[in-house]
Amino acid sequence: MKTIQAATYPVHFYDEAYQKLTDFVTSKNYSSIFLLVDDNTLDCCYPRFMQNFATNNSMEVIQIDAGEEFKNLETCVGVWNAMTELGADRKSLLITLGGGVITDLGGFVASTFKRGIDFINIPTTLLSMVDASVGGKTGIDLGVLKNQIGLFANPEMVIVDPEYLHTLSAREIRSGTAEIIKYGLTFDIKLFNEINNNKKLDIKDLIYESVKIKNNVVLEDPTEKNIRKVLNFGHTIGHAIESYFLDSSEKESLTHGEAIAIGMVCESYLSNVILNMPMEHVTFVKNAILEIYGKIDFTSDDYSSIMEYLKHDKKNVNGEVNFVLLNDYENFQLDCRATPNEIIDSLNYYLA
Ligand code: GLY
Repeated sequence: MKTIQAATYPVHFYDEAYQKLTDFVTSKNYSSIFLLVDDNTLDCCYPRFMQNFATNNSMEVIQIDAGEEFKNLETCVGVWNAMTELGADRKSLLITLGGGVITDLGGFVASTFKRGIDFINIPTTLLSMVDASVGGKTGIDLGVLKNQIGLFANPEMVIVDPEYLHTLSAREIRSGTAEIIKYGLTFDIKLFNEINNNKKLDIKDLIYESVKIKNNVVLEDPTEKNIRKVLNFGHTIGHAIESYFLDSSEKESLTHGEAIAIGMVCESYLSNVILNMPMEHVTFVKNAILEIYGKIDFTSDDYSSIMEYLKHDKKNVNGEVNFVLLNDYENFQLDCRATPNEIIDSLNYYLA
């Protein structure tokens, strides 16, 4: 599949991508290379990476604990210390090999270390292939508040190799599917229909189309002043629910995609209330999402906490919660407002 060109870097696909990576690294004459992995990707992805990547440079592996709860400043300090002890300098390269936590945190670590060193993203989850690794957002969580600290910084290259998807559970694949549904509802309904109609998905095509959509949006609005906000469809309520579940000792953590899927049902409902999105389309979205993810277990007792998390959404302006809503499929409106009662109604709609 053809390379997709982002603003300052290429996104290469499949086996030939490793040759591009090898050629690039050789041409740049880096002083040293660091590979950031977590427990899972060290076991499951590192062997494939090493089979495909050849370098004469010295390469050190830095391993962090796997999981969203480690996407924090303490982990960054650990990585910065390790790089310092291992002699990293401004001509070093950091390669991130992992899911969204690794690519977001690794990009943040690299772009702040000695005021910024090069990094390359090799996403290994569906979620990071279609979203996190592309677009230049880097960052970490602040407590349970997602991605509160970070900066825009572009990698030198992204390598998308779907072979890594074989290392994932069905639940993790479903998590990434939520972002593809988002691209479908906002830009290309074919993607959503394909997920609904096909039990056996052509995942390579879906990834490629998703990256193309995301890249076009980011090219138009790299720092989310305008159209890039559309990529937050489902994420306003979704992030609040994800943070609430992460923080609650009684709830099992949700995957990002499970939370965003709930958010897309609620925000489709709000789209009907505020923008008149046809109700049959809202129902269709809800049924499709429940079919894939099941009904996630929460009740009206949880609403007040979820509403509290909504107050911290990064898109809020002057304390008002900001939504991307749909007039209909492939037709969105940015900067929409909903009242607290409307938001509660949307949660009721999900649970009904
Ligand atoms: N994940 C949303 C964005 O990259 O803007």
